[in-house]
Formats: sequence, C-alpha cells, structure tokens
Amino acid sequence: MKRTGLLTGTALAAFCTLASTAQADELNVVCSAEQDWCDLMVSIFEAEHPETEVLMVRKSTGETLAQIRAEAGNPKIDVWWGGTGDPHLIAAEEGLLQASGVSTDELLGWAQNMSEISGGRTVGIYAGALGIAYNSEILEERDIAPPACWADLMDPRFAGEIQVANPNSSGTAYTELATFVQLFGEDEAFRMLRDIGENVNSYTSSGSAPSRAAARGETGVSIGFMHDMVKLAASGFPLEIVAPCEGTGYEVGAVSIIEGARNPEGARDWVEFSLRADIQSRAPEVQSYQVPSNSNAEVAPESPDLASIRLIDYDFATYGSSETRARLLARWDEEVGDPNPEQ
Ligand code: F6P
Repeated sequence: MKRTGLLTGTALAAFCTLASTAQADELNVVCSAEQDWCDLMVSIFEAEHPETEVLMVRKSTGETLAQIRAEAGNPKIDVWWGGTGDPHLIAAEEGLLQASGVSTDELLGWAQNMSEISGGRTVGIYAGALGIAYNSEILEERDIAPPACWADLMDPRFAGEIQVANPNSSGTAYTELATFVQLFGEDEAFRMLRDIGENVNSYTSSGSAPSRAAARGETGVSIGFMHDMVKLAASGFPLEIVAPCEGTGYEVGAVSIIEGARNPEGARDWVEFSLRADIQSRAPEVQSYQVPSNSNAEVAPESPDLASIRLIDYDFATYGSSETRARLLARWDEEVGDPNPEQ
C-alpha cells in the first residue's frame, strides 16, 4: 500500500508532543575553552542529567560573539561556556544575554566582578594570565636568544618566528591587544603590535593554536595564555614560558545564558553546575590549568600562580564594552592586519 506521509490528527498531536519534549531536553552549548575540557563537561553534565542531550560545539570567543549577534531574536545557542570575559560582557551590554539568577556567593572577587558589571548576565568561571612561550630546541638550533619582555618580540631576530591569534576571532588575542593598550598607551601599543607583526608568520583564529604550533616546532615563539602553555609543557613538549618583564594582562573566562534561549531551565542548570567547586576541580583531569573561580575548588599545582605574576589592573568594564572593542579591532585591521586571513 502506498504511504501518504500524512499523519492523522491523533498521530500528529503525539508527534508534536514528542518533538517538543525532545526540544526541551536538548541543551545547545557553545564552548570556547579547549575541546577536551568541553567534552569532559558535557559527559559529567549528561551523567547528572540523563534526560538531557547536550549538543556542544567548540568555537573561539570572537566567533561565538559574532554568531550570537547574527542569531539575535532567534538563537540556536542556549548557553555559552568558556572563552574570555570581554566578549561575554559585550554580548550582555548588547542585550544578547539574560541574567541567570544563580548565586555567586562562593566565587572569588574577580568572578563576581563580571556579574556586577553585566547586571548578572555573565559570571566568571576561571582566570588565566597572558604570556609568551618559546620552543627551546628551535631557538637554540637557530641561535636566537629567548625573549623576556613584550618589547623583545619587535626585535628582527624573531623574523618569521612568532605566531599569535587574530583578535577579531580570538578572545586570547583581543586580551593581548587590550593588555598592550593598558600597558603602553594606545598609540605606542599599535606601534609595537605593527613591529611585532613584522615578525609574525601567521595569525590563527583560535588563541591556543600558536602555542600548539610552538610546541610542535612549527614556530619558535607564541603569544597566548600561560595555562595553555603549561598544558603543552606538562605533556613533554620543549616549551618555556615567559611572564613578560613589563607586566601582563589576564582573562576572566565566563559563562552566560543567551537571551531567548529555547531551554532556559537547562541553561540555568548548566551555569549552576559549572560554578560548583567539585566540577571546577575536575579541569586538571584534561590538563586545563586555569585558576578556578569557586573559592572552594582545588587549584592544580600546575596552575600559573597569578599572585607571583606582575598583572595589570585589567579594566574589564572598558575593554568589555562594544564601543571600545569595535574601535580597537577596526584600528588593528587598519594598522596591523592579517596579510593572509584564514578563509
Ligand atoms: O584554551 C583555553 C582558553 O585559553 C581559555 O582559557 C580561553 O578563555 C579561551 O581559550 C580563548 O580562546 P580563543 O582565544 O580561541 O577565543
């Protein structure tokens, strides 16, 4: 008998109920941390919430902000976990996030600060400092003295040896741009970034890619977050990590619920889950060595000790504003720019 493909009224009602149940039990997460940590988080969450299927994709921070802006009014994402805090703050300012209402009582001051700036629309989950890494075998082989300061990276001895991400797509590289502006003043920062650019062999879209390339010997030097460098050094790669002599900036990674999320309850469960001390304490299982935001979470001995690094008083309210980011990125495109943008 030929099937018509049409459903009877009762069957249609049953189908609709099933479809809406399936929808409610799906949680769409964009993860801007490392893939293995994203996978670990999904597996623990699903084990605790067997009724929920988490659909997760990994995307860099700037790319996620672009997606959330493009989908405003009809979001495909429920929750955004990880990635540097400035683009989360910008999304909050642009009305693209909703307050989660979760308690931040157990969190450290820098994590609560994100919540305060954003009216509860984003909250800090980890922190990490920016630094320089170099492959000691490569530099020795090429007889290049290692860098100790940001200013060293302008030296012609590093011609073609430096890899860094593009601040349009990467939160890491935007943190670097904002750090330079705060350390050196805007005009001097751009002069330095132009000079360093003369030595850059590639601008990647993800912030941790340059240190992976340095670890493998594909580039001599990388700029990125120290915790990503520690992960590679702990895995046996010949990577040395430098806290730049002039001081450095840092990120506060964040978690946010998207305005208009299709599964707001699931998203809220995820936010609560990701702020728990026992959950944050599991990051070192996948060699993720950011400093956790919950004051009761265990800090891995491998985590860079932020108290011993010369950190700037990073101005999240200013550098996490739409206007500042748009202006700095336009100037970066104009004055530094990526000669070979990834397609
Ligand atoms: O690899 C993890 C990490 O360094 C996070 O600490 C950070 O929030 C994120 O990557 C930034 O990634 P991207 O620069 O690709 O946006």
